[in-house]
Amino acid sequence: MPKKTITSYRCVECGALVNSWSGKCPYCSQWGTLIEEQRRIHPEKERNIGEMPEPLAVRDIKPPERVSSGLAELDRVLGGGWVPGSVVLVGGEPGVGKSTLLLQACGAMAGQKQDVLYVSGEESFSQVALRATRLGASGDELKILGENDISNALQHAGHGYSLLVFDSVQSFSMEGISGFPGSPAQVRGVASRIIETAKSGNVPAVIVGHITKQGSLAGPKLLEHMVDAVLLFAGERTSPYRLLRSTKNRFGATDELGVFEMREKGLFPVADPSRLYWNGESVMAPGVAMGVVLEGARPFVAEIQSLVAPTPFPYPKRTARGLELGRLQLMLAVLERRCGVSSGGFDVYANVAGGFTLRDPHADLALCMALASAVRDRPLPPDCCFIGEVGLAGEIRPVGLTPLRIREAKRLGFSKVLVSPSDEQFPDGIKILKVGHLKDALEVMSL
Ligand code: TYD
Ligand code: MG
Repeated sequence: MPKKTITSYRCVECGALVNSWSGKCPYCSQWGTLIEEQRRIHPEKERNIGEMPEPLAVRDIKPPERVSSGLAELDRVLGGGWVPGSVVLVGGEPGVGKSTLLLQACGAMAGQKQDVLYVSGEESFSQVALRATRLGASGDELKILGENDISNALQHAGHGYSLLVFDSVQSFSMEGISGFPGSPAQVRGVASRIIETAKSGNVPAVIVGHITKQGSLAGPKLLEHMVDAVLLFAGERTSPYRLLRSTKNRFGATDELGVFEMREKGLFPVADPSRLYWNGESVMAPGVAMGVVLEGARPFVAEIQSLVAPTPFPYPKRTARGLELGRLQLMLAVLERRCGVSSGGFDVYANVAGGFTLRDPHADLALCMALASAVRDRPLPPDCCFIGEVGLAGEIRPVGLTPLRIREAKRLGFSKVLVSPSDEQFPDGIKILKVGHLKDALEVMSL
């Protein structure tokens, strides 16, 4: 039976696959996002029985080997290093430092006498070389290629390299596919050529992709489906800190976080990220409370600040930065109804210090304490931090990995921590105040 090819259409926004073309994606309702995809069907009969893979016992299957990237923070996010034959997409806004990170990794690997190839479709030889020299990535094993045509670039890929980097997917073009470089069809074509090469040569490859503030590039979802791992590199323009997270990883966990600082000579790992957002010397003004939140599997101490100011207007303002506005409104309602802490006549501002954005919803208790302290205009003790979620009845609920959070609080020199009552085993050497209701927590803190 001959090989059969079927034509389907993939949405570049949401990645959905549909059988017939229409102007609007039936799943995400975006217009003009469906592009043609040819898929080959291998009818079962076509295969030789001898070629069919046999099922294996799990213990007979070896875990993939890893190749260290030479940067510990990057290895951590990858789950231990590059996996040969796999393809990693590194996404981020233009200027965040993707090229810098990968050039540094290439330099570190070259330093370990491993041959690496860095193909730039964006910058000229001399620009890349200048930057590589500045970053100290100048070993003979690091080869640079300035090339926009993906087929030409891949001709050089088969020479025993330990890593291939393609920077960026939007800057390459592929013959035989219509559209400008960066268009969905081109991005897809270029990426699939890179993936083919990585798999057939059993070499790890990195695809760099620009992503706009809204998180979209020509087909980010489309690329996410194709690659083995997706790392997102993010940071505020005004801050030198950069966070690397994995949002998909077929070979590891997705809750790891790498923290870097962008300096004159490139990216440097940040050894103690908790100090990023809290320098250990906060003045405990009224309205300030400390919480311990998780970023992936890493605990951070977050300083939550709030300010209340009387307003003559009937609709007081509520402003939140670094946390959800809805959460702030809910916590104000709980404080009002369950604890008699009234903020009706006040504008309320809440903020997480240092430009940190809380992704962990478990800073409720710290937020409530900050708000109550602001309303009462009395500071909290500086050596105490707060861990817990607050329910609608005002009850304090336990949150995941509390012992890990407490250990971090202890390491940073806090002497007390207020948590919900539970039977968990908590670390020694720090005073644990177990409190079941927000009202009692306020009393314990003399608010
Ligand atoms: P870059 O890696 O080019 O970003 P991307 O590839 O994500 O577009 O990094 C760009 C910014 O980083 C640029 O504004 C300058 C800054 N930078 C430094 O501060 N120090 C350095 O050593 C390097 C190489 C870049
Ligand atoms: Mg770049």
